[in-house]
Amino acid sequence: MPSQIQHDMLPTRTHDEAARQDYYMDIRRHLALNVAGGNRTLYSNVVRPAFAKAHGRDPLDRGEVRGEMTAQPYYQMYSAMQRHTQEMTWDSVIDTVERELPTLTAKAKQKTAAPKGTLTLTPGFQAPRYLTFYDIHLQPGGYHTTLGKDDVSAGALYDRATYMYTMGNLGPKTDYFGLSLIAHLKSRFPNITPKRILDMGCTIGHSTLPWKEAFPDAEVYGIDVGESVLRYAHARAETMGVGVHFSQQNAEQTNFADGFFDVVVSHIIMHETSTPAVPRIFAESRRVLREGGVMMHMDNPRLAGMAPFDAFLAEWEVYNNNERFGGTYRDMDIVAEGIKAGFSKGQLSLDHVSLVVPARIMNYQTKGIQFPCLVGEK
Ligand SMILES: C[S@@+](CC[C@H](N)C(=O)[O-])C[C@H]1O[C@@H](n2cnc3c(N)ncnc32)[C@H](O)[C@@H]1O
Repeated sequence: MPSQIQHDMLPTRTHDEAARQDYYMDIRRHLALNVAGGNRTLYSNVVRPAFAKAHGRDPLDRGEVRGEMTAQPYYQMYSAMQRHTQEMTWDSVIDTVERELPTLTAKAKQKTAAPKGTLTLTPGFQAPRYLTFYDIHLQPGGYHTTLGKDDVSAGALYDRATYMYTMGNLGPKTDYFGLSLIAHLKSRFPNITPKRILDMGCTIGHSTLPWKEAFPDAEVYGIDVGESVLRYAHARAETMGVGVHFSQQNAEQTNFADGFFDVVVSHIIMHETSTPAVPRIFAESRRVLREGGVMMHMDNPRLAGMAPFDAFLAEWEVYNNNERFGGTYRDMDIVAEGIKAGFSKGQLSLDHVSLVVPARIMNYQTKGIQFPCLVGEK
């Protein structure tokens, strides 16, 4: 597994901090490779036969599987360890970020002194409640918290910890989601040469930068709600020599003009929003697209069609990692939501995007994982 790229904005770890962080990432890999599978064996050999004996049938859905599995000591141990490593991931990176913060703040100013891109923040901006009422993925302070003027701490924390959380599966620059969606756009729409591209929910630009690299003549925009993550995104992009326009905006209602973009995308944001937000974000995507433009919102695998046990494991994050909307989104009829947003049925499709480099380890055991993507053509 290649190491994370040590770009200039990524906090520098001491030897002991690196050892501690690598230790937690290794435990996560160990859980995924050597422990998670034991849940399946337990289910097949013990839980399911016992349920069938008691009820005269197999569990019908993930809720019934959860009812049985959460009472099992083996699953309790696995789940507690998963939760513990998630907490310790943030805990171990915070030490590095706190120590490095004055240096990072100074570097961010220096790196953005003569920028190729821009950063536009909105004083008094209110993030939607679905992002603020708890800390998604247990990130202390969530995506939105800022410690004040010039703060880059939330972005620095997210950058390193997300590499650990995804166990390096998204590559040295954590950009495989972006690269995968670009590959999909190019194969689905080989004749498109976008002049303006919008990435909604860009966080620190992991998936945004590859769009500029793939379409160097295009203007690329990234929006998110968090001041600190956006400030870090801007500094990181400039450090990497990539000019992107970042701004603090709600994807449900942006300040871009009608028809401004050729392509509007998001990578793995929709399952962290809310039932009313989903059609609003699709409608806003449609509003800012030109006639003939393309919308692509890629997210985690649908739960419908999964075997009840797989759906139960896939939902671990919903119950244990502050992703409460995750299960609901993955059950929603998102083509119907696209129609509510103003697209006609013929303009919409639910595609499946493979990762450009397949994930070697996932925290649930799904081979050949593909990411459903709502594609809308205006
Ligand atoms: C899982 S992260 C996405 C990561 C990023 N797209 C990537 O591929 O690296 C979800 C992001 O979406 C943002 N987000 C969620 N809802 C949003 C909204 N309504 N407007 C803007 N950003 C939003 C969150 O603040 C968070 O930064």
